[in-house]
Amino acid sequence: MAGIVLVGAQWGDEGKGKITDLIADDFDFVVRFQGGNNAGHTVIHGGRTLKLHLIPSGIMYPHITPVIGNGCVIDPAVLIEEMDRLEADGLSTHRLLISCNAHLIMPYHKDLDGASEHRLGKNEIGTTRRGIGPAYMDKSSRIGIRVQDLQDEHILREKIEAALSEKNEILEKIYGMPTYTVDQVLDEFRPYAERLKPHIAETSALINRALGADQWVLFEGAQGTLLDLDHGTYPFVTSSSPTAGGACVGAGVGPKRIDRVLGIAKAYITRVGSGPFPTELDDEFGRRFIEVGHEYGTTTGRERRAGWYDGVIVRYAVEVNGLTDLIITKLDVLSAFDTIKVCVAYEYEGHRYNTVPCHQTVFHHAKPVYEELPGWKTDITGCRTFEELPKEARDYITFIEDLADVPVSMIAVGPEREQTIMRRWESRP
Ligand code: IMP
Repeated sequence: MAGIVLVGAQWGDEGKGKITDLIADDFDFVVRFQGGNNAGHTVIHGGRTLKLHLIPSGIMYPHITPVIGNGCVIDPAVLIEEMDRLEADGLSTHRLLISCNAHLIMPYHKDLDGASEHRLGKNEIGTTRRGIGPAYMDKSSRIGIRVQDLQDEHILREKIEAALSEKNEILEKIYGMPTYTVDQVLDEFRPYAERLKPHIAETSALINRALGADQWVLFEGAQGTLLDLDHGTYPFVTSSSPTAGGACVGAGVGPKRIDRVLGIAKAYITRVGSGPFPTELDDEFGRRFIEVGHEYGTTTGRERRAGWYDGVIVRYAVEVNGLTDLIITKLDVLSAFDTIKVCVAYEYEGHRYNTVPCHQTVFHHAKPVYEELPGWKTDITGCRTFEELPKEARDYITFIEDLADVPVSMIAVGPEREQTIMRRWESRP
């Protein structure tokens, strides 16, 4: 039995897609357990660059069953477009399974996401405006529309009617926006239902059966630990649980099914959207991260905010997720620097914080305490073993390994699949 969870240890965009793609071959199932098309995975495979938002990256392997779990929210138009694009690229999507309990992103969710951001003005969260938050709100309010509702038009009509009786009031009276008729929404959703019906399944039962039969299942998180609704920098977070516990809830498996938890972190750190960011750099170093690391969002194209590696945040991610391994990506980007800083603690009003401060105000104003390490200033993109790395790069990895108190199992030194140093990964026998 091998249930392995892979999560982001920072604010998302850590390179999870590349790592999933790298180890996917060992798995029978790859399962997305939260989020929706707010995520964006860029996977470079066989010389092709694929941008995936909803479909798990395992789709590229014919022996893998890719699953969109119950914890996800699905914009059917986006999903179908993604399926069409993959098919046009010669990749079959017939194995894709969608949990009958996943929720649907409806047209009014997207309207409300944009409208509420606009209303927040300078306090906006900086969402991807894909309707994610409003869809999860309806799930919690128990007026959400689920994938299984696509299987019965009568039920679908009733649920849309019930939802619209509230949504239309909000759209019209609070935001002064156009409303929807039931038929308008149904007419849009009928073709989606026809297209998606063959993919709808009770995925939790299938995954549990697979694990019971010693198959390997990879639970693939989107976003990152610090964007978690409970454990992230609330309110500047997403509306789901990208932490490891979310894999159990969002895929329908028990915690004892999880054998290993991999946390992905960049060798520096980025975030998109608003919110506190202690090591953010507004100077030419920050620009260098953006330019050398091509730090632009896969989903929105927005330029990311960038800064030095924050060891406090990663240590927090180790605890919150129970990480067994850390995987460092984009180490090659640091080759551009003479010296490299690592944040080891924060300071605020004369106090030193070795852990993420509980109070948001402290976190907002926390000043990073840095340790400075020598850079290596040489191209490392050709290194394939830890020993081939320059001494300064090895020392950097050892330093963050000690800080996180978990082993660094893989190190990415370039965007291509093979540009990765595998230190502790035993492929399936
Ligand atoms: P939402 O998920 O669209 O509601 O956005 C909430 C916050 O999460 C915003 O700050 C987004 O920029 C951020 N976010 C959502 N998805 C991702 C992602 O895949 N990578 C990085 N940030 C994300």
